[in-house]
Parts: sequence; C-alpha cells; structure tokens
Amino acid sequence: MFYYAQVRGAEGNAEGVGLASRVRTPVLEVSDLRVSFPTPRGPFLAVDGISLDLYAGERLGLIGESGSGKSTVALALMRLIKPPGRIESGRVVLDGADLLSISEAEMRTRRLADIALVTQGAMNSLNPVMRIRHQVLDGLQAHGARLDKGEAEARVEELLRQVNLRPEVANLYPHQLSGGMKQRVCIAIAISLRPRVIIADEPTSALDVVVQRRVIQTLRKVQDDIGASVILIGHDMGLMAQFAQRIAVMRQGLIIEVGDVRDVFASPQHAYTRQLMESVPSLRRPSVLGAARG
Ligand SMILES: Nc1ncnc2c1ncn2[C@@H]1O[C@H](COP(=O)(O)OP(=O)(O)O)[C@@H](O)[C@H]1O
Ligand SMILES: [Mg+2]
Repeated sequence: MFYYAQVRGAEGNAEGVGLASRVRTPVLEVSDLRVSFPTPRGPFLAVDGISLDLYAGERLGLIGESGSGKSTVALALMRLIKPPGRIESGRVVLDGADLLSISEAEMRTRRLADIALVTQGAMNSLNPVMRIRHQVLDGLQAHGARLDKGEAEARVEELLRQVNLRPEVANLYPHQLSGGMKQRVCIAIAISLRPRVIIADEPTSALDVVVQRRVIQTLRKVQDDIGASVILIGHDMGLMAQFAQRIAVMRQGLIIEVGDVRDVFASPQHAYTRQLMESVPSLRRPSVLGAARG
C-alpha cells in the first residue's frame, strides 16, 4: 500500500512528497509545536516550531542526531513534558481534538487508549516485583476494563502472542526475561487498548543488532494487526529503512526534511540528512531499500 500525501515540513520548509494520488485524512496533525526548557540564559527551545501530519496506518520514522529534540517531541505529543519544561505553543490534533487544550483528566483517559508511548528506557521501567500478567493488565484496568479472571487471562495471552511471546511469560517477573522480551512486553502494554497512534522512542537502542531487528519486526506486525499509525524514533538508518514508509529528519528542534523513505534515501535534500546516511554504508545496497517497500 502507498500513502502518498501532502506533507507539511518545518515552518518555511513546506514540501509536497510524492503525488497526492491517495490523499488521506491525517490521524494526528501537529502544528507549530514549540517546547522550551529554562536555562540561565533564557528559555531554550528544544522543539522550535514543528508541523507534521501522520496518516492512518502509516509508519513514520523520526530521525536526527542525539539532542535534536526527538524525545521532547514524543513527550510533548503525549503531554508528558515535566516542568520546568513547557509547551510554548502548538496544536496536536488527534481525531479532531487538540490534545494540548483538553483537561488533564481527559488527557489521562486518552493516553494508552488513543495514543501510546514506548519510551527508550521502557523495558527498565517494568515493575521488578510484579508478574508480567499484572503489568499487562494494569493499563487495561486503569482505563476501566472490567474483566473476569478468564477474560483477563485470555486477553493477556492474546497480547503476548501478538508480540511473539509465549503465554507462560505472563507468570514471570521482569528479571527472568531478556532485554528483547522485556521490550516486547512494553509493546504489548502499548497496544493493549488498541491506540490509533503508537510512538516508539528508540525502542531497541539497548539491544543487540539481531534482537533489534526482531523487535522492529514485531512492532511492524502489531502495527499491521491493529491498524495503528506509528512514529518510530531512532538514529539507525538501516532499521528505519526497514520499518518506515516516510521519514522526517530533525535537527536542532526543527524538521528539516520529510519525505517518502525511498526518496529521502535516494536523494536526500539536506546535507545533514546525507551525513546521517553516510554513517550507514549498507544503505546503498538495494536489499535494504527493497525491504523498505510496502
Ligand atoms: N528535562 C530537560 N531539561 C533541560 N533540557 C532538556 C530536557 N530534556 C531535553 N532537554 C534538552 O533538549 C534538547 C533535545 O533533547 P531530546 O529531545 O532528548 O533529544 P533527542 O531525543 O533527539 O536526543 C537537548 O539539548 C536536551 O539537552
Ligand atoms: Mg531521545
């Protein structure tokens, strides 16, 4: 499937990507988002006015060097920026409602149910003294799911299966799992309420290369299963090429380039994008770009 559509780049950088042969309504519309952190010399804009649309069922890669503002964007979309950090301006419209202007109570009901985040350190934030079963059920129950024992069991089993884990994993504690398994559990939790949007912030950065690929494959499978739109944040261009249909490149709080993954890799418009890609020589191999199809 192809998701060509009009894309808004960073302010003053609007770009049309591909042909609007199949224009879709965006699920998530981010406009002019600005996030600041105070410094002795005044507010520092870690996100300096970004605009971006995410379409139904789309897999978007957000890349950029460390410190470019990727995680700050992820947290802002979830409205999880901690003070003294602050969202200065912008709109984050999910299914017609601006997440930045609803009440905190309403936002709480929307997190996980409509928009879910797998953070970089997610696998280390699992509760060490709680069995996986209860951690998977936690989110469901916090959102008011009333499940009897049998239903709960079946739901946990189904979620674990969706991320390629055996049902027995439900009985285990985090320390009994490998890093890759823990990250899969975090993905299971993120999809437990079938959100429309999943943001995965460098979900594989602590894992070895083979496991990274498998976890990304799992993310792709669940994305397909539940028909969610995914923003995958990372700096590994090889993994991005395998996962994403569209790529947005961040630098110093701005999106400087956005486009179809093959277009960006074949002819990056920005010198910075070229630099990011030169660090992955294998990208020039056709097999990698072949994997980006579909
Ligand atoms: N809580 C914070 N307090 C102060 N500065 C922050 C905070 N979080 C992020 N920053 C700053 O914002 C910029 C972007 O950070 P971040 O979004 O984590 O980048 P990335 O995820 O792309 O590596 C960095 O310069 C970082 O130092
Ligand atoms: Mg980060």
